[in-house]
This record gives sequence, C-alpha cells and structure tokens, in this order.
Amino acid sequence: MARELGPRIEEILEEVVGDTGPVLWLTGAGISAESGIPTFRGEEGYWQVGSRHYQPQEMATWRSFCRMPDEVWAWYLYRRSVCRAADPNSAHRALADLEEALGDGFCLVTQNVDGLHLRAGNSLARTYQIHGNIDYMRRADVDSPAIPIPETVGEDWTRERALDDEARALLCFPDGAPARPHVLWFDECYDEPNYRLDSAVSVAAACRLLVVVGTTGGTNLPLQIGMIAARRGKPIIVINPESNPFVSLGDSDRVTFLQGTAGAWVPRLAARIEERMGSAAV
Ligand code: OAD
Repeated sequence: MARELGPRIEEILEEVVGDTGPVLWLTGAGISAESGIPTFRGEEGYWQVGSRHYQPQEMATWRSFCRMPDEVWAWYLYRRSVCRAADPNSAHRALADLEEALGDGFCLVTQNVDGLHLRAGNSLARTYQIHGNIDYMRRADVDSPAIPIPETVGEDWTRERALDDEARALLCFPDGAPARPHVLWFDECYDEPNYRLDSAVSVAAACRLLVVVGTTGGTNLPLQIGMIAARRGKPIIVINPESNPFVSLGDSDRVTFLQGTAGAWVPRLAARIEERMGSAAV
C-alpha cells in the first residue's frame, strides 16, 4: 500500500511555500537504479583489464587514461551502452514535470552521468551535471566544450569489447587531437566550465528546500551542498532505502528521512510540491 508523505512534509511545504529560491533536488545513482542502471558502488561496478578486476576508484582517473586510453575508453563506451539502453523511470519523469510547473523555482544537481534527467525532459539550463555526461567527450589536450560522442561509435559495446581502429579514429577531433570522456575523474577537481561547481554552490545557498535522492554522499561537492543548505537552516528531505550522511546533517528537526526507493517517493513528493507551489513559483 502507498505510504503517506505525512504531516512533517506538509509542515515543510507550508513553511517554504512563501519563500524565494528554487526547490533544489540533488540526485545520485539510486534514482536510476529502477531504470536498470547499476549504482556506482553496487556489484556491477567493477572494471576488468586482462584478467584483473579493478574498482572504478582505481581506474576512473586521469592517470589511468594517460596510461591506457583504449581500456578507459572501452569501459566508458560499455557503460554508455548500458545508459543508452535504459529509459527514464517514474522518478525522472516526475522531476521533468515539476520543472515544467515551477520554472525557475526548480533546480536539479545530479551526480549521474547517464543523461536520464535530460532525456526525461529536464532542461540543461536547470540541470547541473556535476560529474559530467557519459554521452559526451571533450579534448584531452586542452580545455574545450564537450560535444556528443559520434553516433557512429555505436551502442553495442559489451564489457569485453576492445577499442578498434575505427572507434579510435572517431574519438578524435578534426585536427587529430584525442578526445576524453566528459566525466569527472577521481584525481580531478570540480570546476564551473565543465561541471557547474560555482552554480551548484550558489544554488545550495539560495534554495528554499533541498531534496536528496539516491546517493551515499561519497564525494565532496554533494555533501558540501547538503552542508551549505543545513548551515542556512533550509529544510532537507532525504529519499533513500538506507540511511546516509545527509540524514544527520545540521539540526535533526530540519532533516526528514523518507525511507524507500525513488520510485516510491519522488513522484508523490514532486506532485505535492507542484500542488502547493505550482502557482506560486518564482
Ligand atoms: P552510490 O552507488 O554510491 O550510491 C547509490 C545510493 O542509492 C545508495 O545510497 C543506495 O542506498 C541508493 N539506492 C539504491 N537503490 C535505490 C532506489 N531504488 N531509490 C533510491 N535510492 C536507491 O552512488 P552515488 O551516491 O550516486 O563520482 O555515487 C556518487 C558518486 O560516487 C558517483 O557519481 C561517482 C562516485 O564517486 C564520480 O565518478 C566522480
């Protein structure tokens, strides 16, 4: 049976309805789990080179890309195939509907590189992809805007498939400069041009409510966003099947934990926010 959002959520919405600033959603791999994309720290998250298994933390690095670009590219093309085979789920769709209703009263910061929020209909202007997008590449030699990976690279990359000459040639710029995946690696820093660092920090300070969905908070910026919102006394709602560090941010009475999946809670919460704020959007 569907669980009710409960009186605490109604109190929060009553409190923020007259505030300014967007309702900020911060999402992680958990929101795409019901689309069939393995979470980052789930069992599918390993990486194989030869006979050895690596964890992404060892391999998703600039250092590894410099040492073995073909292997790193092959891994990302495989993961890109998994993402492109997946469809947005009810939680993604609910956030696209909510943006349509709230306009600038809505903002989304996502750690997911799968592009599913955009495919569901969220706009690039209000979606900060702070870890990049697996469908894009940029120059490996100098800073450059990201561009889509050519369609001709194909979407049927299995985990075992190695990079061939044809793909290698497509993963270059017209002057022959090699491309890299447009994703943030573990030995790299957030920035504004690629990953919307400043925009994400600013919206954390300006938001009226923060909703955190499906993340362990294992990286720096997402937790920082939570801390900024908590320090400013903003209400925080956490949606996750398990507890995480966001649940204990700031004063306990400012954080509400909706335990369960994104599919169970996000459409219901988004619909209720739209009912309360749709007409009063910024
Ligand atoms: P994780 O794999 O660390 O965490 C997934 C979270 O989703 C966990 O808290 C699960 O409890 C939760 N979860 C699982 N199924 C869910 C469901 N159906 N609905 C809602 N929540 C569910 O993924 P992230 O926290 O997104 O960064 O990982 C963050 C970052 O860690 C990644 O973007 C990556 C890595 O460092 C970089 O690559 C820079």
